[in-house]
Amino acid sequence: MLDLAPVRAQQPGRRIVWLESTGSTMAEALKLLREGCASGTVVGAEEQTAGKGRLGRNWHSQRGAGLYASLVLRTSLEGKDLPALTMALGLAAAESITATAGVRCDLRWPNDVLLQGRKCAGILTELHGKDVVAGIGINVNQSSFPAELAPAATSLRLASGRSQSREGLLARLLEAVDAYLELLTTHGPMPILALFSQASSYVHGRRVVVDQEGEALSGTTDGLDACGFLRLRLDDGSRRLILAGGVRPA
Ligand code: BTN
Repeated sequence: MLDLAPVRAQQPGRRIVWLESTGSTMAEALKLLREGCASGTVVGAEEQTAGKGRLGRNWHSQRGAGLYASLVLRTSLEGKDLPALTMALGLAAAESITATAGVRCDLRWPNDVLLQGRKCAGILTELHGKDVVAGIGINVNQSSFPAELAPAATSLRLASGRSQSREGLLARLLEAVDAYLELLTTHGPMPILALFSQASSYVHGRRVVVDQEGEALSGTTDGLDACGFLRLRLDDGSRRLILAGGVRPA
């Protein structure tokens, strides 16, 4: 079980609940949100039996190997700020991974964190009225993945060649989340979008395929709009604004 003592020492005043096993920390955090918990409350688990990913996918949550946590965020942000909030959390995850494992991350729009081209972390944000439940999953010490995930997934351990402290990573992650959310609430989405564009090889001039409601769009990325949606120049010269969907290299 993750040792919460050093994390609590660095995060005094934050409520952190850690469970042995649960279906999904998203549901646990929503329960706490509805009970009136404070903003910043974290629920994590050693294992999730029904971990949720974006676009209805599952999130593989091997016991004790990763960080699986959801935060309750009571913000003054509106629905239109959700893409920037998701990117702020992606930036925070990438920064904490680099600080912990000494490996360089890439960000794939809207919210995948990549190491050596493979996914090591993902963000799932859910709006509940004015509040947000934000889930962060990081593959930390997995030494292998199920066959169907193996070609596209990695962990900090696989990428860095040594096992990593989940406690150290969680403490840095929470610190970075606070810093990026402060930036977002104080200055609005623009600085977050600028930082994301700098940190991501997917935002400008990248040949991609975007899966959209049964359609696969091929084109070249052309920056973000003011809300953080992805501009795509299709091969026939037309333009599309991508609001959601899976982006992959062409
Ligand atoms: C994605 O990239 O598809 C998003 C993955 C989000 C996974 C995290 S793990 C903690 C939280 N609980 C869940 O069930 N999902 C999120």
